[in-house]
Amino acid sequence: MSKRKPLTYLAAVCTVTAGKTSCLAADARAAESRSIDAKDKVPGMQGSQTPTAPDRQPGLVGGLHAGDSLLQVENARLGYKLENRFHLAVQDVSFDLSPAETVILLGPSGCGKSTLLKSIAGFIDLSGGSISLRGRRTVAPGPDRAVVFQEFDQLFPWRTVLDNVAYPLRRNGRSKAKAADRAKHYLGMMGLSEAVDRFPHQLSGGMKQRVSIARAMALEPAMLLMDEPFGSLDALTRSRLQQELNDIAAQTEVTILFVTHSIEEAIILGDRIVILSDPPSVVREIVDVSEATKRADSDDYLEMRSHLRSMLVSEGAEDGHEIKPFD
Ligand SMILES: Nc1ncnc2c1ncn2[C@@H]1O[C@H](COP(=O)(O)OP(=O)(O)O)[C@@H](O)[C@H]1O
Ligand SMILES: [Mg+2]
Repeated sequence: MSKRKPLTYLAAVCTVTAGKTSCLAADARAAESRSIDAKDKVPGMQGSQTPTAPDRQPGLVGGLHAGDSLLQVENARLGYKLENRFHLAVQDVSFDLSPAETVILLGPSGCGKSTLLKSIAGFIDLSGGSISLRGRRTVAPGPDRAVVFQEFDQLFPWRTVLDNVAYPLRRNGRSKAKAADRAKHYLGMMGLSEAVDRFPHQLSGGMKQRVSIARAMALEPAMLLMDEPFGSLDALTRSRLQQELNDIAAQTEVTILFVTHSIEEAIILGDRIVILSDPPSVVREIVDVSEATKRADSDDYLEMRSHLRSMLVSEGAEDGHEIKPFD
């Protein structure tokens, strides 16, 4: 059974005014540069978005009751138009995400994980199916879905660590003082209190990713969308950040959709794992991850790892897509 955390995380409700990106042609980065000032583009914080006051009724997440889905992806179909031909990346994917849950999208490179995540973020249009957030079709990017990417260059090089986190909050209408207070809170949570006045070039890769996570968390989004955020880190830092993310998820009950192609990472972080096939992807299986399974080298862990390997390698091995942990 999956570890369903109690429903007490309260998400901000946002009125999204950002322009919609056409998707067949453009990727997320192009969307970002169109929708906000070229100088201050913030991955994970797109567009001129105007949040209303946060919804803070106990027991509810934006009007949701315990057991309701926060996100529903139904028969999603996605692709790209290249040289006047449509290339299908995601054939038919359905899954849902409950409040305070961490769901992993696990699949081989090129199976469309990032494409799916960008579509949920609102950067890419579906060519079939639907994506609903709190029962409403999602149409545009919004601060209710904050994104953390793999790349270390997600920060503004000319802004301090504090300002990298506070700036999107100011863009969303918070006063300078309130934005700074909230930024300090989330930077503290990520262990960066001592580094608030540094610039990105003065940080390690792991610290940069911590800042990116703090920035996304500070928006207090309905969900965090994370696209292999630890993929470029060394194994030790990666493992430490995985543990920290688990701790933060338990403390704050944030809802997370996390993309990875690492089987070990999926088991460590996930409450459930959506296993995707080779492209154009379909869902091969959705598995629950119990607490016992998360104990490294326990029988349950080894069994789950071997099951996931068999699901992925059996397909990928044929065309050289074998999944290697932490490659
Ligand atoms: N902007 C784009 N334009 C055209 N094709 C793309 C674009 N982004 C991704 N693709 C293609 O879509 C497929 C899925 O890519 P992606 O979602 O990045 O996979 P994953 O994240 O699982 O590695 C791949 O074949 C990739 O080449
Ligand atoms: Mg990807």
